[in-house]
Amino acid sequence: MQDPAFVKRAFSDIADSYVLTNHVLSFGTDILWRRKFVRGVKADEPIHVLDVATGSGDVAKEILRQCPDIDVVATDFCQPMLATARNSGLTNLVVADGMQLPFDNAAFDIVTVAFGLRNMACWKDALSEWRRVLKPGGKLHVLDFSQPTWQPFKRIYLFYLHKVLPKIAGLLTGHGSAYDYLSNSINQFPHGRAMCALISEAGFTDVSATPLSGGIAAIYVGLAD
Ligand SMILES: C[S@@+](CC[C@H](N)C(=O)[O-])C[C@H]1O[C@@H](n2cnc3c(N)ncnc32)[C@H](O)[C@@H]1O
Repeated sequence: MQDPAFVKRAFSDIADSYVLTNHVLSFGTDILWRRKFVRGVKADEPIHVLDVATGSGDVAKEILRQCPDIDVVATDFCQPMLATARNSGLTNLVVADGMQLPFDNAAFDIVTVAFGLRNMACWKDALSEWRRVLKPGGKLHVLDFSQPTWQPFKRIYLFYLHKVLPKIAGLLTGHGSAYDYLSNSINQFPHGRAMCALISEAGFTDVSATPLSGGIAAIYVGLAD
C-alpha cells in the first residue's frame, strides 16, 4: 500500500526515461513479459479493454498491435507518464485515479494492469474498483513483480534488486530514490498464492497465477462472474 502523492511525484520525475530504463534494467525481458501478457488478453477475444496505470502505454500499444480492431481506453493519474504515451502515438487516454475510475459499472470486458497494482494506495480496494467496471464474465489481467521461489536464484535476484538496480537506475535517470522505492515495493507486495487470495477476496473467481522468468514477475487472471 503506497502513498499516492509520493508515487505520482516519483513517476513524474522518471517519466522521460521510464521506457529505456525498464529495458536496460530488465535486459529487455520486460518487452517479452508484456507480449506474453497481451497474448493472454487476446485469447479472451476482447472488445472493450481498459488499461489501468498505463504509464507510457506499452501494454495498451501491445494490445492494439496484437488486436488492431478493438477499443482500448488507457488511464493513469500521472500526467507526464500519459504524455509519453501520447507522444508515442497512443490515443484514447484518460487522466484518472485507478482507485476511482470515471467509468460506469460493467463498462469493459477486460481490465489490464501491468506493474500498477503494487503502486496503489490499497490493493484490495483497487481490485474491487476494477471488478466494478468489468462486465459479468469479464476478466482482470494483472502483470506485476513477484519473487523467485528457488532460493539460490532468489538470493542473486534480491542482491541485484537492492544493490545493483538502484545504482544503475540512478545513473540513467538521476532519480535513484524512485528505484529504491521500486525494490522496497516489490519486497512488500504479495505474490503467488497470497496474491491469488487477495484477488479472490475482491470478488473474482477462477483466479490463476503464471510465474515468469523463474518468478521475477507473474501474470494473474481473475474472472468477474
Ligand atoms: C510501473 S508504471 C507501469 C506503467 C505501464 N503499465 C507499464 O507496463 O510499464 C506504474 C504506473 O502506475 C501509475 N499509477 C500509480 N498509482 C496510480 C493510481 N492510483 N491511479 C492511476 N495510476 C497510478 C503511475 O503513474 C505509473 O504510470
